[in-house]
Amino acid sequence: MTDTPDTPNRFITIQEHIINEQRHHPAATGGFSWLLSGITLAARIISANVRRAGILDVLGDSGDSNVHGEQQQKLDLLANKTIELCLGYRGNVAMIASEELDQPKVITRGENDEARKYIVVFDPLDGSSNIDVNVSVGTIFSIFQRDPSRSDAADPASEILQPGDQQLAAGYIVYGSSTVLVYTTGEGVHMFTLDPSVGAFLLHSEHIRMPDKGKTYSVNEGNAGSFPEGVQRYLEWCKTEEAGPYSARYIGSLVADFHRTLLKGGIFLYPPTAKSPNGKLRLLYEANPIAFLAEQAGGMATDGRMRIMEKAPKSVHERTPLYVGSRVDMERLQRHLT
Ligand code: AHG
Ligand code: MN
Ligand code: MN
Repeated sequence: MTDTPDTPNRFITIQEHIINEQRHHPAATGGFSWLLSGITLAARIISANVRRAGILDVLGDSGDSNVHGEQQQKLDLLANKTIELCLGYRGNVAMIASEELDQPKVITRGENDEARKYIVVFDPLDGSSNIDVNVSVGTIFSIFQRDPSRSDAADPASEILQPGDQQLAAGYIVYGSSTVLVYTTGEGVHMFTLDPSVGAFLLHSEHIRMPDKGKTYSVNEGNAGSFPEGVQRYLEWCKTEEAGPYSARYIGSLVADFHRTLLKGGIFLYPPTAKSPNGKLRLLYEANPIAFLAEQAGGMATDGRMRIMEKAPKSVHERTPLYVGSRVDMERLQRHLT
């Protein structure tokens, strides 16, 4: 078979893809791809542990709880430590914030302060409640450039509190039937599958487009009694013959519910509830990265009033309502909310 330019090269690793992507960012140095390779290393280690969770003693509660008062699963802590170590040695990360760390951490290891240009915020293990029942979980990350105009020695977090529109890159890994990594640097959304036999993330598809309209809605209906009126009316509409009706799909791991929405279209909702009046999901390391990916794929992400990525964070663990999905579905929801 002749090797023509359009012969699909199925052996593009994520490292090669990132370096190619960098060509779109003249200002980007190799440091960015070096940083992302730290994340893919962590992803491979976490994936190996998730897949052997039943064999290793990493299932169940750690006995500790995090700043949100949530029981930390052993895998939450293992994933958190793994990412901290993989990023900490890169030499170009200035600080990290994690769902599992009460406070952000300033990284002092490595080269001079000048080299440490990046901030990484992450949810090391998303969907923790699903670990023990072997349902897909994930890791979510978001990367910013340091912003000296915000720096305040007394409060490192001040540099982290940047709106989502400032993200340099965002992505997630979903540990499902296969381990899949999806990322964007603002030039489209690209998907890779981990080939465990060679330990490399290989390109699956580039420039993924979210279907303009879907046939599923994804929400925890158990909270429906306390959803805002407009959300309740929208969900009632989804169940009518006129609407289809839509199918309901809810996995309970944001990464898995969003991955389906990205590929098949539809809408995911985590509205304000009686238990979480400001929404349950965290703005910095859940809603923002998911919103960046959704918009890059042609979808939308709001808190019911404004784009998620316009929100100015006030604290590292700030929560937000999240509505994300296909443009047509989101526009119809919006008509019920106004
Ligand atoms: P985490 O495990 O990182 O705390 O995230 C869990 C989140 C998110 O993954 C999911 O969409 C949501 O919690 C599910 O919440 P409910 O169980 O309240 O529906
Ligand atoms: Mn989460
Ligand atoms: Mn988590």
